[in-house]
Amino acid sequence: MCGIVGYIGFRQAAERVLEGLQRLEYRGYDSSGIAVLDHDAEVSVQKAAGRLDRLEAALANGLPDSSIGIGHTRWATHGAPTDGNAHPHLGGGCANGQGQSVAIVHNGVVENFRNLKARLEVEGYVFQSETDSEVIAHLIDSCLKQIMAEGPRVTDDIDDSPCVAAVRQAVSQLRGTYGLLVLFRHKPDLLVAARLGSPLVIGVGDGEYLIASDASPLAGHTNRIVYLADHEVAAITRQQVRVVHRDTGRIEPAVQSLELAANDVGRGDYAHFMLKEIYEQPETIRAAMRGRLDHDNATAVFGGLNLTPSQLQAINRVVLTGCGTSWHAAMVGEYLIEEFARLPVEVEYASELRYRNPPISKNTLLFALTQSGETADTLAALREMKRKGHPTLAICNTVGSTIASEADGGIYLHAGPEIGVASTKAFTSQCVVMALLALYFGRLRHMSLEQGLAYIEALEKLPDLVSESLTVEPVVRGIAERYRNAGTFLYLGRQYNFPLALEGALKLKEISYIHAEGYPAAEMKHGPIALVDPLTPTVFLIPKDGVYEKVILNLEEIKARKGPVIAVVSKGDDRVSELADEVIELPACPDFLNPIVASIPLQLLAYHIACFRGCDVDKPRNLAKSVTVE
Ligand code: G6P
Repeated sequence: MCGIVGYIGFRQAAERVLEGLQRLEYRGYDSSGIAVLDHDAEVSVQKAAGRLDRLEAALANGLPDSSIGIGHTRWATHGAPTDGNAHPHLGGGCANGQGQSVAIVHNGVVENFRNLKARLEVEGYVFQSETDSEVIAHLIDSCLKQIMAEGPRVTDDIDDSPCVAAVRQAVSQLRGTYGLLVLFRHKPDLLVAARLGSPLVIGVGDGEYLIASDASPLAGHTNRIVYLADHEVAAITRQQVRVVHRDTGRIEPAVQSLELAANDVGRGDYAHFMLKEIYEQPETIRAAMRGRLDHDNATAVFGGLNLTPSQLQAINRVVLTGCGTSWHAAMVGEYLIEEFARLPVEVEYASELRYRNPPISKNTLLFALTQSGETADTLAALREMKRKGHPTLAICNTVGSTIASEADGGIYLHAGPEIGVASTKAFTSQCVVMALLALYFGRLRHMSLEQGLAYIEALEKLPDLVSESLTVEPVVRGIAERYRNAGTFLYLGRQYNFPLALEGALKLKEISYIHAEGYPAAEMKHGPIALVDPLTPTVFLIPKDGVYEKVILNLEEIKARKGPVIAVVSKGDDRVSELADEVIELPACPDFLNPIVASIPLQLLAYHIACFRGCDVDKPRNLAKSVTVE
């Protein structure tokens, strides 16, 4: 959701910024824009509603030569996705004819923008857009004028310059969140970045810097990165980065190493990122387990929980929270932790948990599951639980993200960047981490050494089982072609496969725009069965597990109403094969691993149906990869 890129150095800024914006497309957006500063101290701006190719077309005549620029992809919140509402926004340009002094790009929400706008209008500022962000541009201009009016500041320190002071003053008046990048018309050697609740990173080069709202634009350009923290303002020149914290003053920016190659953010020979990410799963599952299986003690080990075994031993309740696909992984976690660790678990939508104020007893541990680490509702739920004094841990894919930084500790997925909006590899990695946690908590409680070892042995076979599952792609593609015109799909499963039914339905909705519902198989009789007809396919998750016979009964109920059945079964299951219209055979595995193994055909089914329908698989309409607004 919204992306920021800025460049300062010696290369063509417009090219660098545009390339960076392309790498951020996956976040979801509906308009874009770019601003560069030319040699005559003029800010040239180009904006376009719609996809980035419209901006590229508008730029065909070229932006002026410039080695400093900022760009943005916008996902509309305040104001429609029009050219005018796209960023960058210019500040200054009063009705009395004064020129514009700043250009800004902003991620986040300015909650008090109406008050600020009213005040700035009284000062004479003329607003060109319906956005909340434009107030920031005028506010910086207003602060700058005031600072200059107070007389010249004699300082050699860039972080104490009037421009930086103006940004600091301006952001101190904002209520809400911001990742902000500012270009000053009369400062061709300065970009100012500021962050509160919306990420910004700075890629460090030699004589050049690339600033972005996540690390993907940096890949292949630099492996040195500075993660800006909340309340920090960075002054970036071609020679240096200076960082000032609101409370502690100047701080030394920590330059960390970035393990992200250009390949990680490219799609290689795959038609879509989603397909690439589906095929990466044997490896990402291995990565989620790497170094975390302790055979000697038959348990799992985690480096970053930051809680002692005795603190964890005292935990008597677990709350798992997240949104979307992460919420489904949390549901898989509920089944796993309750079965293997005998710990009561509750799964809460983060958007509900943040306001619901449920009674939560002492010794409750919260896990926030999030691929991006930036989802606004998940962050708010985590903060609320922290505020109440509960230990909070993040299960997260994006290193250095806000949720990863704010949680007391956590577990990284190590799945590499997930670019396709529909989450695939992050889901299976989250399920693997849930399985590791079930083992860990189980071994702290009732699970015997032998049981622990058997569990580890099963987990170690998982990457190969997933590789084998991927071989069903041609079968799934055939099914997708036959059912691509259905208006509604049902997904049914029981126990471990109920969360997977929800996830399968979500995948299909997200990328093919077909209505789909996931249900516990038996619950289907209490409503959804009314939808069943010869044109409404039902996907049954029906491996040979503890509830196999029961699910067959549900399948017969659908067949009796002439509903077509697509059955995902264990290899060699002749019984279901005779009943179902379509069969997808998967390798047999222990019940608790089935949601991971069986997620493969469901991802592939959604993918191929979306392709047959001509949908934009990686960038589905209206969706954003990370939802940073409430
Ligand atoms: C958005 C994405 C979903 C994702 C959800 C939670 O809605 O489109 O694919 O599951 O956010 O994201 P998170 O990054 O917190 O896992």
